[in-house]
Amino acid sequence: MERVVERFGSVGFGSVLLVCLVSGASAVLHTANPHSVCKSCDPQPANCKSNQCIANCSVSKVCPSPDDVCAAVWWREAGVVTVETKCHDRTRPLNGVMLDDYSSSDCVLSVRNMNTPNLRLCACTGRGCNERMLLNKPDDQIAILPTSETKGAFRLAQLCRFCDIESTACNATGVCESLCNISSICENPNEVCVSAWRRNKGNPIIETVCHNPTLPFHGQYLTDYNNSVCLMKQVKGMEEDFYICSCNEEECNDPLFFPDVSAPPEGVERNLPPVLLVSLVPALIAVVVLLSAFYCYRLFRQQNLKAPKTKGIDSETCAIIMSDDDRSDSSSANANSLNHNTELLPIQLDVIVGKGRFAEVYRAKLKQGATDESFQMVAVKIFPYEEYASWKTEWEIFSDADLRHENVLQFLTAEDRKAERRYWLITAYHERGNLQEFLTQHVIGWDELCRLGGSLARGVAHLHADRTSCGRAKVAIVHRDLKSVNVLVKSDLSCCLCDFGLSLRLHNSMSPEELANSGQVGTARYMAPEVLESRLDLENIESFKQADVYSMALVLWEITSRCSAIGDVREYEPPFGKLKDHLCVESMKDDVIRDRLRPEIPASWTNHTGVHLLSSTIEECWDHDPEARVTAQCVVERFGEISSAVISPLSADTKSAQDSGNDEKEI
Ligand code: ADE
Repeated sequence: MERVVERFGSVGFGSVLLVCLVSGASAVLHTANPHSVCKSCDPQPANCKSNQCIANCSVSKVCPSPDDVCAAVWWREAGVVTVETKCHDRTRPLNGVMLDDYSSSDCVLSVRNMNTPNLRLCACTGRGCNERMLLNKPDDQIAILPTSETKGAFRLAQLCRFCDIESTACNATGVCESLCNISSICENPNEVCVSAWRRNKGNPIIETVCHNPTLPFHGQYLTDYNNSVCLMKQVKGMEEDFYICSCNEEECNDPLFFPDVSAPPEGVERNLPPVLLVSLVPALIAVVVLLSAFYCYRLFRQQNLKAPKTKGIDSETCAIIMSDDDRSDSSSANANSLNHNTELLPIQLDVIVGKGRFAEVYRAKLKQGATDESFQMVAVKIFPYEEYASWKTEWEIFSDADLRHENVLQFLTAEDRKAERRYWLITAYHERGNLQEFLTQHVIGWDELCRLGGSLARGVAHLHADRTSCGRAKVAIVHRDLKSVNVLVKSDLSCCLCDFGLSLRLHNSMSPEELANSGQVGTARYMAPEVLESRLDLENIESFKQADVYSMALVLWEITSRCSAIGDVREYEPPFGKLKDHLCVESMKDDVIRDRLRPEIPASWTNHTGVHLLSSTIEECWDHDPEARVTAQCVVERFGEISSAVISPLSADTKSAQDSGNDEKEI
């Protein structure tokens, strides 16, 4: 209405009269059925402190419908709280949930669905009432996941200063302020507040973060996190000065107390000696207990490794797998780790083994000792400085410890090689190279087909799963660029997935913007029809998985096409024609959508029962209708059924595998 007045204001008496009439009518309407005025901003970081978050939204909007109330959608990821503010029709669901608590003038956030604990909603009535959101209902402060230690109880997630790395004037003496003015509620209730002070090429920097103390932080286990204040301790053995402190109270990682503190500020001064006593003694005891436990664990593990492995996972094995995941051993650094310039790994690049869209992959030697003879072969993916975003995306995907799986490329660490203006990702090296190279050079037997195909499906099923094999919740990931070049062949002829540069974590609190930006990506040759057409249902996370399953089907077809069990094995060809042919989205649309073309499955493939069954599964996976496709987990199960049907001596179906003599090993 204000804009209407502005527009008509200078056009004379008639207009003034019109304005008066319109305003009058509006006033009548207003008293009859007022339209709310709400904050209305796209998702953006919020400022959260204690029990409230402020949306930082400067746009107020007169809501279009009298049924509208003010609402906020709040979520957090990696310690950052994001908020979207809007008008919302109270008679309709918001994010699938009907809100009945909209009449208060306070916007009280609460978790509406325990499956999406990082997503909270609130609604309220009153001008701009959705700018300030409260987390102050006792059961709403709780975060988030019931942990095994707390046996179903909920723990409060900590509120910490979280600015990552910033330069500072603090010279590591006395008491320093971090000057970080962002407070974030930690993502995980186990996380504590941590600060680190160090010099980077002589310049002091401070890092403020949330961190899970069961994982190393800059290679150090935190031992003092049961403190209420952040008492800096020097870390020995670093090239430059390095201090770390941790604590477990709201925003306690600021201010920072260095060891030579002579006059701590009022309040802290009187408490410091008791704090030191109360916190350091238990911390020391904890260190001794932890070291002993770790020593026992290593002993137990060494003995265990010597014992033959049993199949299947019981709850005890799960516990061991989980602790393996959490703790890195010499061959697998912490998934989250980033090696800063001061602590680069001693790596010597060898030869280039792959070239992708954004980066090149080198085989490299990671030195293990003082001599040149002792080294571990690794792969180094090198991104030029301009491809920082691609490096970061892939690093973030790898940083999820739950990604670890035998059929997913093992990540070692990431390095920001500032001096060379390069970013590195360091992973395991697999000398057999990628699946396309492997299939070009080898004809495989039926057993190898099952091994390569089954492990590929297991890798994809693991990515897509929202539970680990032990039943713990995990974020589902979609690869979005599955193709034989992005699958590596391990020495035991199983596959592992690599190149996560286009992958997406499907967390429940994905913003509409993130979803909208995730339309058509991948390689045209392997794109599902709905991706080619940009008609992926972005609202439904399953549709991303269905598109991956389509691409996986093409890779399974490639593997099968090089298996002696099909009869006449032709030279390797990728799906939809020769490799050198450049296939663009438009030509793929003609083939895949208009003509519903798929790679050929010749009649001879039905002579072998296993290949016949597998072909039917492949066809189900590349169905035009995404909903009709089977899941990757279902393909895993099919491989189990198919391989046992073929090898079982009782099965009449074994004829073709054995009788035709087609299953000889040719690799
Ligand atoms: N090509 C791309 N990544 C590779 C890796 N990790 N090992 C071998 N070859 C690769």
